[in-house]
Order: sequence, then C-alpha cells, then structure tokens
Amino acid sequence: MTTHLFSPLQLRGVRLKNRIVLSPMLTYSATNGRLTEWHLAHLAKFAVGGVGLVFMESTKVDPRGCSTPKDLGLWKDEFVAPMQRITSMIHGSGAVAGIQLAHSGRKARCEPPWEGRHQLLEFPGVDHGEPWELIGPSALAHGPEYFVPRAMTRADIQQVVHAWGKAAQRALRAGFDVVEIHGAHGYLLHQFLSPTANRRSDEYGGSLPNRMRLAIEVVEEVRRHWPADKPLFFRASAVDDDGWSLEDSVALASVLKAKGVDVFDCSSGGMNTPAVRDRPVLGYQVPYAERIRFDADVMTMAVGLIVHAGQAEEILASGKADLVAIGRELLHNPHWALDAAVALGIRDPYGLVPPQYGYWLEKRAKGGFDRCLSTGTDGVPTHPAPVLSD
Ligand SMILES: Cc1cc2nc3c(=O)[nH]c(=O)nc-3n(C[C@H](O)[C@H](O)[C@H](O)COP(=O)(O)O)c2cc1C
Repeated sequence: MTTHLFSPLQLRGVRLKNRIVLSPMLTYSATNGRLTEWHLAHLAKFAVGGVGLVFMESTKVDPRGCSTPKDLGLWKDEFVAPMQRITSMIHGSGAVAGIQLAHSGRKARCEPPWEGRHQLLEFPGVDHGEPWELIGPSALAHGPEYFVPRAMTRADIQQVVHAWGKAAQRALRAGFDVVEIHGAHGYLLHQFLSPTANRRSDEYGGSLPNRMRLAIEVVEEVRRHWPADKPLFFRASAVDDDGWSLEDSVALASVLKAKGVDVFDCSSGGMNTPAVRDRPVLGYQVPYAERIRFDADVMTMAVGLIVHAGQAEEILASGKADLVAIGRELLHNPHWALDAAVALGIRDPYGLVPPQYGYWLEKRAKGGFDRCLSTGTDGVPTHPAPVLSD
C-alpha cells in the first residue's frame, strides 16, 4: 500500500525516504559546547528507528547564545570533527542529517529545565570562562524573573549574522544535509520579529519589514555559505500571543521563501506562553502549517502532539503540511516510524530499519507473530500460551 507518510520527498539535491522528522530537541548534554557520547547514542536511536530526517538539537552559533551552560555549539572549527561521527552514523542508517542553528538572545544563560530553568545572574562562559553577556534587540527582560539584556549595536548584529554563516559552513563540513534556522520560541530572531521585545528605532525595529530584517539577513548569510543543492528550513512561532500574528508569519514565510528557505517549520509560543504544550490537544499547531502552506505557497512542516500514524497520514494526505516533525513521542518510542509503517500496512515495513533489526523482525512477522500481540479488553493476550509438560 502507498501512503503519504512513507512517500519520499526530494528537497533540492537531498532525498528523504519518508516524511517523518525528529523535531530538534535540546538535551542539555554538551560539555563546553562540545558533543559528548550521549549525542551519538541519543540520535542513533531515531536514525535506526526509521526516521527520514534526524535533526540535531538547537546548536548555538555564538557562546553567548546558549540557553544553558550545557548547550551544543558550532562556533569553533574544532567542533566539526566530532559531529562527523554523528552525520556518518545517521547516513549509515539510511536517514538524512539535519542541524538546527540558534541563538537564545535575552533568554540565554538559564539552568536546564530539570534544575528549574531560572536565569543565572552570572556564570562563567560556556566555552572557556569568558564573560557571558545577555544581548537582545532592546534592553527589555523576557519576564519578571529574567535579567535585562544589553541592546545590540549594529556591530553586534553584524557579528551575529556572520556567526550564523560560519556555523552553516561548519555544518556543511560536518556532513549535515539540512540546516534549520531557529526563529521561534522567544529566542533571538523571534525577539527581533516581536513588536513587544523589539522596541528599536533603527532599521531593525518598528515596522514589520524592519523587524523581519535580521531574520532575512541571517537567511541570506546562511544561504551564501550553504550550497544551492541543500535544503534550508526556518522554524517560526506562527503565533505567539504577544503581538505576532499568523498573518505576520504568512508574510515572513513568503519573503523567506524568495530568499531560499525551502520548508517553513510551524511551531508557536515562547514569548509569554510556553513553546511546548503539555495539554493534550492533538496536532495543536497543524492549522498554522496548513494556513501558511496555502497562503505563502511554501512547503511546511507540522509539529506538536502528532502521535498516531493515522493522524500523521491524514495531515499529509489532506495537504496540511509536507512533513511531520515528532518530538516527545519519539523520545517515548524511537521505533515510532517502524510501528507506523506496520500500522499503515506499507509494503516491506521492516525494510525501513537496518537489516541488523529488519531481517529478524520480518522473519518473526512472517511466522504470524502479530497474532501474539492481540489482547482482550483486559490487556491479557488472547493467543494461547504454550503448555509445558513435565
Ligand atoms: C526536551 C525538549 C527539547 C526541545 N528542544 C527544542 C530545540 O532545541 N529546538 C526547537 O526548535 N524546539 C525544541 N523543542 C520543541 C520540539 O521540537 C517540538 O516542537 C515540541 O516538543 C512539540 O512537539 P511534540 O509534541 O511532538 O513533542 C523541544 C522540546 C522538548 C520536549
């Protein structure tokens, strides 16, 4: 059977084997901005599990942009070689390797979530103990429990744009196939887009075109360094309940598409509402992906509580998005893609995973193993257990 979820997608010179994407997720497991063994073990699970595009977590282009002291970085050449191990592992499992490049701006320098996420008054810089200054579009704190950043000068802006380009160059040398620019969740680019966080009176503030200027310059700079045959994604908060509307996102997506963005990744929040929602509303951000896809005529990626195979299939089949990104459900079940392939009845579902697993799982399925999986409403297997004779 053919499905939308398991149909390939050609993005410039890169072919995804299916539409399932591991959404970028910070794991706060780096040391001085560097990869640790954790990242290899963590990302390998999704590549082996059949995900088409595996995104490395938000990776910072500037040490000041780290949201915590344990964020990953790509601000130095020496970070490239360890990342090559990750991309080579992802490619070896038949998946495509993506990296999200980011800067947290005024939301930087916090504790990891499980330590309270409080902003740190001061902390030696992530890299080698350099001063860790908070910067942002204006001298306005993210909220009452946050510190006031220094308003960026034009020189700061140029430096950050340049850092994004250098990081894209390094991502290329590290073997990544896709770059995503993080413009969502109340971080630096979103801060510039926002009429609430950005009160500048120069050409980077005020009107919508002015507030979009930094995002556009970053896209242009990354595109200058990122080859024409490789796709570029941009993640935005499609709405933020703080002055940024869906219409603004449609305008942004149209402009960025013309500048070389291939996929607009539609998240939300992060200004005065959470960027990740726990409330169980399945597919809560899908309508944004649908509207932006239609109105800006750009490919979109839907994300946010997409958990069922049939749900993901419906999103794609009804033209609401071109890709589905899955976050926490993949943490729960790194073999979600394989489960979805079996559930949707695609031909050769076990061909989705490397033969080290696929060979055995296919043999087991051919032996009628699925009958062992059926249970009654009480959860007790209906297939009879063997009776051992003594
Ligand atoms: C642990 C964790 C870390 C996250 N880190 C990032 C990140 O690095 N970059 C980003 O854009 N979103 C990040 N997010 C948001 C996810 O990418 C995703 O948009 C969100 O979790 C909603 O999708 P889900 O319901 O499938 O988890 C993170 C979410 C979680 C749970």
